[in-house]
Amino acid sequence: MAGPAADSPKHGLAAGDGAAPARADWTIDQDWAAYTPAQHATWKTLFERQTKLLPGRACDAFVQGMAALPIGADEIPDFRRLSDALMRRTGWQVVAVPGLVPDAVFFEHLANRRFPAGQFIRAPHQLDYLEEPDVFHDVFGHVPLLMHPAMADFIQAYGEGGLRAQRLGVLDMLARVYWYTVEFGLVRQADGLRIYGAGIASSATESRFCLDDPSPNRLGFDVARVMRTHYRIDDFQETYFVIDSLDALLDLARIDFAPLYAQTRGAEVMAPGEVGVGDRVVKRGTGAYHAARRG
Ligand SMILES: [Fe+2]
Repeated sequence: MAGPAADSPKHGLAAGDGAAPARADWTIDQDWAAYTPAQHATWKTLFERQTKLLPGRACDAFVQGMAALPIGADEIPDFRRLSDALMRRTGWQVVAVPGLVPDAVFFEHLANRRFPAGQFIRAPHQLDYLEEPDVFHDVFGHVPLLMHPAMADFIQAYGEGGLRAQRLGVLDMLARVYWYTVEFGLVRQADGLRIYGAGIASSATESRFCLDDPSPNRLGFDVARVMRTHYRIDDFQETYFVIDSLDALLDLARIDFAPLYAQTRGAEVMAPGEVGVGDRVVKRGTGAYHAARRG
């Protein structure tokens, strides 16, 4: 997780002018046969490390989605095989992109149940530090939950909502919802808090930090609250928002955000670690980790 400490979705325009692609939708061929043994080995290192960490941390739907997909330790998954399995279950596909794509392109894909996944894999010296989402983040982190009907519908609705939010000039508000759910969300299960966000599930350090460390806040999810909460893109989150079940995402997919935008516009945006009077506190964090980082 790297970049400036400002609100900006990971799929933002960071790819720059020089990176304009041959196809208007920015997709490329995955060219699976061209991955080298070293690249498959990087995948294996990452896969095995996360697979050890996630029992008791990842939510049941993540574990079940992973088990039902052609994703294993030995090689970078083939997007065509992933798409076949997803299509049968929830009607999604995975398409390859070179890295970050413009917001409008990203939303258009999601609105049509195509998940754009980075074709490349990080270099061995970047196992824990990555500026753009690669195939490990996108496939290991995101694709298992696309097998779940609630997440499948929510991400499609996010794509449709993203196109609307762009027109309304409120993309920052919507991006915060994506950030605190799809990327960094926690869910309550009968056996405790669990990870469903891809940014956590694909990170060895944050999958421990978000659940085990006393520092971050865990707050009950509230969409209007999240819309006016800054997030960290350069470090672990200071606050994680907890949904009561993945089906809460279905409710979120169905509500009209327009009144929420109107209500939130002009409201003060809260700092990432702030706890307010109306918050449903699951566990208040000590804040020690980020206080130490600030010195
Ligand atoms: Fe992501």
